[in-house]
Order: sequence, then structure tokens, then C-alpha cells
Amino acid sequence: MSDLVLHVTGARPNFPKAAPVIRALDRMRVQQTLVHTGQHYDAQMSDVFFRQLGLPEPDINLGVGSGSHAIQTAAIMMGLERVFVERRPTLVVVYGDVNSTVAAALVAAKMSVSLAHVEAGLRSFDMSMPEEVNRRLTDQLSELLFVTSPEAIGHLANEGLDVDRIHFVGNPMIDTLIANLHLFDAENARQRHGLSERYVVATLHRPSNVDDPVVAKEIVSALHQIADDVDVFIPLHPRGRVILEQVGLTTHQRIRVEEPIGYVEFMSLVSGAEAVLTDSGGLQEETTVLGVPCLTMRPNTERPITVTHGTNRLVTRDRIVEMYRQALSERTQPSPVPPLWDGEAGERIASVVVRWLEQ
Ligand code: UD1
Repeated sequence: MSDLVLHVTGARPNFPKAAPVIRALDRMRVQQTLVHTGQHYDAQMSDVFFRQLGLPEPDINLGVGSGSHAIQTAAIMMGLERVFVERRPTLVVVYGDVNSTVAAALVAAKMSVSLAHVEAGLRSFDMSMPEEVNRRLTDQLSELLFVTSPEAIGHLANEGLDVDRIHFVGNPMIDTLIANLHLFDAENARQRHGLSERYVVATLHRPSNVDDPVVAKEIVSALHQIADDVDVFIPLHPRGRVILEQVGLTTHQRIRVEEPIGYVEFMSLVSGAEAVLTDSGGLQEETTVLGVPCLTMRPNTERPITVTHGTNRLVTRDRIVEMYRQALSERTQPSPVPPLWDGEAGERIASVVVRWLEQ
């Protein structure tokens, strides 16, 4: 027997996007298989999300682990080819822009298996980011393109993709946020982590910010200046730890560096933070919905709607402290959240998939 819908996930940001889609398809009684590539494998980068988001145990874990881009992508492709031969899925669903996403897309295309891309059409127009390469290629190979934000439709059309394949469905990561809002307890989390009443949450993991010690030092020195005023909480992604520590991240008393933490704990702290400083993609969206000022330490964003409809500001390294102060002094009424970020994206995606399967 062949499987109907096979989801490929692998890295931390995939999990909150996949959970509502899997749940909605389950309600519609679609037969599903969940593959975890093992791109992320630490308990706090993976297992904790499965538990907290109610994701089913993966049916298959390829256990590929870390490596250079070529090694990791190739290992995922080899593993998935075996899985697709065995399971013969009708539709493969991939999420976001990580290496697991593009690897699955390439294998599906070469094996003539139909592909659906959740979070299609986002563009930073910065091909030095591995994620931009991953997104562009995945979109070209997808039969169903699920977009979270209206401008993505134009990007896909400009790249020659047939508009009939594009479905504006909203943002499934925001479904997860809304479904878990009642569990976020900022005050409790703040006290558990011993943070002062005013505090900032920071996350850093992009290669462009953490791989070069000169760049990393500039960011760390801005964080130190902010920590002169407030506690700065940093659940640190393992990727940049060595260099960030070498350039003095942990030497300020009010900078609190911890291991990565689970979804509910993290979003609790974010929801009570005075501001968030980050280079993450997803956090730009989550802070927009939570109404928490967000400073994105990047020259560009593939999520401009978080700037036009949200709390996000792009900051260059030399202006982090100035922009942080400005963001606090200019706190305005929250603008309406982007269209269709309403908690129903998973349902919409599942409905399109079911209609597609019926055809
Ligand atoms: C990946 C995604 C990035 C996403 C990020 C979220 C790609 C190209 N990048 O980046 O878009 O924003 O996930 O976290 O897919 N490591 C561990 N434990 C783990 C996983 C990774 O220690 O469970 C360390 C390893 O040293 C590894 C490094 O982190 O080499 C990088 O991991 P990798 O999955 O290659 O990329 P991320 O930086 O996590």
C-alpha cells in the first residue's frame, strides 16, 4: 500500500509549522507519515517540540545529524530516496527553508513525486543566505505552494510559477502560537530564570553574525551596552557558542546565557520581554503577533510584513543600541496582525491538500 501524505521535517523551525497541518489532516482522516531527518537532534532542539506541540512520534528518523551543507543535504537525500521508494507517497509536504526542505524537494522532483511547500514565496533577495537558495529551489519544484503573506504571491509569479498552484493560507506557525497562548506565563518564567522585571530576550545563530569573530564581537559589545540597563536572556543555539564566548558574550553579569529551551518556556519569556533582539526568521513573526518590539540584526528580511504590519525593525550592527532605545521610546499601538494570521492556516492547508488528493 502506498502512503498518501508524507511530511519531511528536520530542524527546529519546522516543527511549529508542521504541527497544525498534521493535526488538521488527521481530523480529515488523511493517512500520513512523518519523517524526521535528524538535522536537529539535541533534545532541546527537537524532542521538546514534539512533546509540547503534540506532534506524533516520527514514523522514521533518518538521524543524519550535522555536517557541511553538501554532506548534510546529500545524507538527507540518500535517506529520503530509500523512504520514498518504500512508502510511495502521493504527496510530500515540506516546511520553510532549511536543508531538510530542499533535500526532500530534490528527491521528490527526481522521483516524480508531487511536492507541497508550506511557507512558499518568502524572499530576502540575498543569495548569500543558505535559506534563500533553499526556498527558491524548493518553490520551483513544488506543485502546491502555500504562502503566508500576500507579497509572496508576487514573488512566485515573477519567478514564472503558475498562479493556480499558489494558495494564500495564512501562517501555520502562528496557529501554533495562538493554540499555546494560554500556556505562556511570562511572570512565572521570568522568576524561574531569575530575571529582573525589565529584561530583553536575544537569540543569535546566523552564520553571518556568529561565524566571524569581528562581527560577533561588535554584536556582543552592543549586547553588553544593553545589559548595562536590563537583564539580557540568551538561550544560545549551539552553532555560535564557541566564537560568541571567545569574544566575551558571557563576561557581563547581566547577560544570562543558557542552553536552548523548550517552546512554551521560550515564548513565555518572549511575551514578557521589553524587546527581542534576534536574527531568527520565525521570531520576527511571533513578536509581531505578541506585540513585542523586535530588532532583527540582519540587513534584510524575507518577512517584510513584520515590518509593515508588525513590531519588527531591521538593525545594522553599528546601530543596535540606538535602535533598541528608539524602539522602546516609540512604542505605538499594535497594528492589526497580517491577514490570515488567525490560527486557521493548518485547516486551510489541509482542505487544499484534501481537494488536491480527491482530484
Ligand atoms: C538551521 C537552518 C536555519 C534555521 C536554524 C534554526 C539550514 C541551512 N539552516 O541552522 O535556517 O534558522 O536551523 O535552528 O538548514 N547543532 C547541535 N545540535 C543540534 C543541531 C545542530 O549542536 O541538534 C550544531 C552543530 O554544531 C551543527 C550546527 O549546530 O553543525 C549547525 O546546525 P545546522 O542544522 O547545520 O544549521 P543551523 O545553524 O541549526
